[in-house]
Amino acid sequence: MTIEPAPALRVVPAAEAETIRQAGAALRQGLLVGVPTETVYGLAGDATSAQAVARIYAAKGRPNFNPLIVHVGSLAEADRHGSFSPALLKLAERFWPGPLTLVMPVKLESPVAELARAGLPTIALRLPSHPVMRAIITEAGLPLAAPSANRSGHVTATQAAHVAEDLGEALALIVDAGPSALGLESTILGEFDGVVTLLRAGALVREDIEDAVRQKLVVADHRADRPLSPGMLASHYAPSARLRLEAEEPEAGEAYLAFGRLPPNLPASTFCLNLSPQGDMVEAAANLFSHLRSLDARGPQAIAVAPIPHHGLGEAINDRLARAARGR
Ligand code: TXA
Ligand code: MG
Repeated sequence: MTIEPAPALRVVPAAEAETIRQAGAALRQGLLVGVPTETVYGLAGDATSAQAVARIYAAKGRPNFNPLIVHVGSLAEADRHGSFSPALLKLAERFWPGPLTLVMPVKLESPVAELARAGLPTIALRLPSHPVMRAIITEAGLPLAAPSANRSGHVTATQAAHVAEDLGEALALIVDAGPSALGLESTILGEFDGVVTLLRAGALVREDIEDAVRQKLVVADHRADRPLSPGMLASHYAPSARLRLEAEEPEAGEAYLAFGRLPPNLPASTFCLNLSPQGDMVEAAANLFSHLRSLDARGPQAIAVAPIPHHGLGEAINDRLARAARGR
């Protein structure tokens, strides 16, 4: 038996001429790239590709599909994806590019994968100021989903070497632009019933925001009545058909969401979609929301769902399915 050398992880200096081109090419292929931003390093992937987004969740080892921030290169680009209220527009004009993320209703025409939003009707948008990150966005020609480049539960990465330690094997390359200037994630704001609300304290300080909007910020925790976080939006994941989980095979009148091998006696008349014929969890995660939607569109009495293993991304997939089954 020969021992394969560990694949050389490519940590590439941002200043090298080829780097930006390589990063853009990798992202267009659906691969993941460690990217510098002014706040923290990001784990970037093509936000319009459900596959790339699923790879991000897998690499993070997230117990849940937490919605991801979508990074864009201009305000005009952000406007393609989200509906700005007057207050959020004012904040964007004042603080973008910079360490501010704005949560707003997603536009129907946005090509961002539903999985990046974890199925929410809102999208989190950010226009970063880091020149290398901006060059990568331009070169890729894509909106980039990018959570902080650490494994779930680990300390946030603010240096390329930390990214390599945590996520090295999942990345096509890491663009090294030195330590992050801010080292703290972006501040996240949303607007709910006309009230600008702080969803995450971050690198942009509250006083500056309050000056700009001339109102006191409401902190999300103080509005527990509002479904701001994905976990509270159980019903949002729910199709109109009833879901029957852990179903080895469909009953009469049911559509079937399969995983892996199909049941042997599946009637030809059953409307069936397979999350992943090969049993691949990344593929299954990428297909989850769109397959549920397609099956539901057929108007079945119920959707029977095959048992999905609980390991890896299966935990989040099963969490979403359980919510969808409960949420009606
Ligand atoms: O500074 C940053 O924001 C870094 C750099 C890489 O840009 N990114 C970052 O991403 O911190 P992440 O995935 O670690 O944190 C994203 C946060 C999560 O807490 C998530 O719940 C929230 O954004 N979020 C995303 N979309 C949301 C939405 N539609 N509604 C409410 N919260 C949302
Ligand atoms: Mg994070």
